[in-house]
Amino acid sequence: MTWRSGARVRVAAVGDPHLGADNGDLYREHWEQLGGQADMLLVAGDLTKTGTVAEGQFAAAVFGQLPVPVVAVLGNHDYHSGRCARIIALLRECGVTVLDGQATVLEVRGRRVGIAGTVGFGGGFVGKSASAFGETEMKLFVRRTERQADALKAALRSLDSDARIALTHYAPTSDTLAGEPPEIHPFLGSYQLGEAIDSHAVDLAIHGHAHFGSQHGATLHGTPVRNAATSVIGRAFAVYELPGL
Ligand SMILES: [Fe+2]
Ligand SMILES: [Fe+2]
Repeated sequence: MTWRSGARVRVAAVGDPHLGADNGDLYREHWEQLGGQADMLLVAGDLTKTGTVAEGQFAAAVFGQLPVPVVAVLGNHDYHSGRCARIIALLRECGVTVLDGQATVLEVRGRRVGIAGTVGFGGGFVGKSASAFGETEMKLFVRRTERQADALKAALRSLDSDARIALTHYAPTSDTLAGEPPEIHPFLGSYQLGEAIDSHAVDLAIHGHAHFGSQHGATLHGTPVRNAATSVIGRAFAVYELPGL
């Protein structure tokens, strides 16, 4: 990525807001004031508590009325009630760009910022990962991870932009899981997402899902990774600048 000096893009990010009628206003006024603070808001999944249509409607109403473009991926909680297709439709109807293995480009002061997004999945990290062997259920588990990583790689490949951001719910590195019990790392992310990111020139990777993890990390090849879960960043959103993270 090459940028003229002083030309910074401000990327606001948040994961795991877990919105419902009882907590929907917790961060709302902060998000509504994003206009002067950031050029976009990336939402790293778990927009809802249990993925009901009512919660999806609520999330769409909140994220569909912000003064900056909003790009989101879903998280495992958004899948829980089996209504994820409806939730995606509700969000899109309200103007939120939902990425499910796709990419989008935002124009920011003459720069093209590409965002490739997918939910991702678990599986673990190098040396401590699941393999597609044995029972059918185990193969299905690992194949979902592989399909998600392949989708992220293809979405990144499709981008023609000045900068690339990877947006997932599950983590692409164990760095940002520090603080979570090691026993559950295989359910929080996968090295295969990191490999997909490292296969392209990604400037920033953002995820959520690890509520007790750490904010700062990197993939094996050094791509900056940020865990933007609300409980990790401790506020309504974090802002990361491109370049100069
Ligand atoms: Fe979550
Ligand atoms: Fe999650």
